[in-house]
Amino acid sequence: MSNRDDPDLRPATKLVQGGRRPEWTGDPRLGGGVVNPPVWRASTILYDNIADLKVRGHATHDRLYYGRRGTPTVWALADALTDLEPGAEGTLLFPSGVAAISAGLLALLSPGDHLLMVDSAYEPTRLFCNGMLARFGVTTTYYDPLIGAGIADLITPETKLVFLESPGSLTFEVQDIPAIVAAARARGVPTMLDNTWATPLLFPAMAHGIDVAVMSLTKYVGGHSDAMMGSLTATRAIWPRLRQATYQLGHSVSPDDCALMLRGLRTLDVRLARHAENGLAVARWLAGRAEVGRVLHPALPGDPGHANWSRDFSGTSGLFGFTLKGADEAARTRFIDALSAFGIGFSWGGYESLVVPSDPATIRTTVAWTDPDPLVRLSVGLEDPADLIADLERGFAAMAE
Ligand SMILES: Cc1ncc(COP(=O)(O)O)c(C=O)c1O
Repeated sequence: MSNRDDPDLRPATKLVQGGRRPEWTGDPRLGGGVVNPPVWRASTILYDNIADLKVRGHATHDRLYYGRRGTPTVWALADALTDLEPGAEGTLLFPSGVAAISAGLLALLSPGDHLLMVDSAYEPTRLFCNGMLARFGVTTTYYDPLIGAGIADLITPETKLVFLESPGSLTFEVQDIPAIVAAARARGVPTMLDNTWATPLLFPAMAHGIDVAVMSLTKYVGGHSDAMMGSLTATRAIWPRLRQATYQLGHSVSPDDCALMLRGLRTLDVRLARHAENGLAVARWLAGRAEVGRVLHPALPGDPGHANWSRDFSGTSGLFGFTLKGADEAARTRFIDALSAFGIGFSWGGYESLVVPSDPATIRTTVAWTDPDPLVRLSVGLEDPADLIADLERGFAAMAE
């Protein structure tokens, strides 16, 4: 059965049942069904006759029409993601997280409009605003991630969207989402949140008043570093505009990749719990090291974002940062190069641990990043944390050489 029939199911159960509608998993002619929606690869859909073509030519989202509009494998993933967001109308899928972000912005903004974008946003999100959106006559104001209710002062009659990312995926500030949502709603301005860090399991965005939740499924949902995809999940009021824009832009995702994402989704709850546990073990150990300036992890009680995080989020994922006290670029490089359990690589949320250097001072424009200590970002994976800690210990030894 589809869990749409029982909206009261808990998230872990929804992860298991989502998208497994009998019409997508079973074939009555074969006398039964399969557990997973099969991979339907298609460009062309065949019609019985012209009358059929005329009827289905006006197809809605989940009737076979043409490959670009999806097949049951695609719909199953979209359905499963929608089910995780109480209050959502539907989900659209994109070939990457960045494609989802840019399509969402294009759908909701027009020439002359004003966008409020959080200053801690993922850098390619900023590049899209400063590049294509600016070229199309949309102005962007970057706001302090900690602005809270003060966002009201930045809203003008032209403001058509407030974009949030919380925690910021490089610097981990936790925004006061309820205050920002309330201020935006009071002025009739929709909000869009990059929810990749938390996923709806730790922060169901629609239930918190967000109008559009974007995720890079490439990260925790996929979870295995072998596929890329993005999603937009939206309320009923916003959904038609997003769907129309997505159709016009011609976005389409591979059913094979959807099957990988569905496979990842089934275990998201257990993986996230382990990412959280391992990440906290590593973060607490780092916090006690003399080489570390500060650990940027909202689940640690001393973190400036801890109060907002405890109020709004039901858990943590495994992505966080820390600074190397008094170190220079060369020392950071020695530290990272000495690691072997942590792969050096972009992205995050996969089962394997990753490390990257990050330099927010070169990205920010509204609130200067003044911490002189070099920053390191860790995506803590599913290894035994004792091995990860031993690896980091080797890194510190190399840093001192
Ligand atoms: C917070 C955040 N949003 C979006 C993206 C973009 O996702 P993708 O790599 O799938 O385009 C990333 C990628 O690192 C990210 O960190």
